[in-house]
Amino acid sequence: MSTSLNTLLIHGGVDGDETTGAVNVPIYQTSTYKQSELGVNTGWEYSRTGNPTRAALEKLIADLEGGEYGLAFASGLAAIHTVLSIFKTGDKLLVSDNIYGGTFRLLDTVFKPLGLEYEIVDTSNLEAIEDAIKRNDEAADSPNIAAIYIESPANPLLTITDIEAVSQVAKKYEKLLIVDNTFLTPYLQRPLQLGADIVVHSGTKYLGGHSDTIAGFAVVNDKAIADRLYYLQNAIGGVLAPWDSFLMIRGIKTLGVRMDRHVSNATTIAKWLQESGYVDRIYFPGLESDPGYEVQNKQADGPGAMISFVLKSEYDYKTFFRELKLITLAESLGGVESLVCHPASMTHASIPREIRQEVGIVDELIRFSVGIEDVNDLIADLTQAIEASRR
Ligand SMILES: Cc1ncc(COP(=O)(O)O)c(C=O)c1O
Repeated sequence: MSTSLNTLLIHGGVDGDETTGAVNVPIYQTSTYKQSELGVNTGWEYSRTGNPTRAALEKLIADLEGGEYGLAFASGLAAIHTVLSIFKTGDKLLVSDNIYGGTFRLLDTVFKPLGLEYEIVDTSNLEAIEDAIKRNDEAADSPNIAAIYIESPANPLLTITDIEAVSQVAKKYEKLLIVDNTFLTPYLQRPLQLGADIVVHSGTKYLGGHSDTIAGFAVVNDKAIADRLYYLQNAIGGVLAPWDSFLMIRGIKTLGVRMDRHVSNATTIAKWLQESGYVDRIYFPGLESDPGYEVQNKQADGPGAMISFVLKSEYDYKTFFRELKLITLAESLGGVESLVCHPASMTHASIPREIRQEVGIVDELIRFSVGIEDVNDLIADLTQAIEASRR
């Protein structure tokens, strides 16, 4: 069987149902399984521990990421929570300076009080990472760095981190590298092949692709890390339901064709915005002017379809949001429909304002998840909303 990614999207994981010949994996809507006698079962015991629909999806996401072991969770944050649970009090994480606000909240208000510390660094700067590792590991009164946690492109400023280069630093100092691959999906970027130890995802976004399911994933190659994660997945219990597992498998089948259109629409719109005279700043790693452009081209098969921008001061961003007709103001991203959001009050509101300002998540920042509608209709909607927002 071919192992090309486009084929794996449709036939990877568990391909259909051997028992009946059904071309789709059945939804095993069951919480438990009959045992013929004490200690004898079919390999399935209880659906928190394992469920055939979820297991098919877990194998599929592992196949797509080029990893050995996949795990599916009830949300991206449930996946990240389980991954962070491999660390212990006294460990410290180095974290990208712009990451999803919910991940920051989890680190800051759930794990930090339990003694798992974090330090924010600009992970696009290799020297800054190495300095932070040395400074922490050499200081007697500071916990040792256990892992580096990055998003690339990062949410919401699309900052690009050189995953392979960071993985070399991580290996040199024997730290784990965790990469949130939500914005690109394995269709465009496979961090395990670039040297990452753990990949996490919000499956809610492009993998599901239709803004109808909340899901999360972790994928690893190392057996010891996988065993610990499977143990924690069962012990903590934030697993993905059978029906939602089916929806993810179904969404993933069209990931390739969706991503191709997402990327082409986003590239057209980013170039148009840049030349339009409407924007003061634009963040999109597919623009040659973007500081991450070269690294992005080296490590990924496309720039993704997230664009962030700040309108020139003569346009009022609040009016812009209100005037959009086709593009929807909503949390989330990665669905077939175009969504815009205001990171400062929505996705990144849980990051204190001083930190937001420091890293560039200004109040005027607009984040745009470019959908797969007709690109001319999207440009027309942007144009009329920006024009209507002129002060
Ligand atoms: C990059 C990134 N990681 C993780 C998450 C959390 O995922 P979920 O909402 O599925 O819990 C999000 C959600 O927006 C995200 O954008």
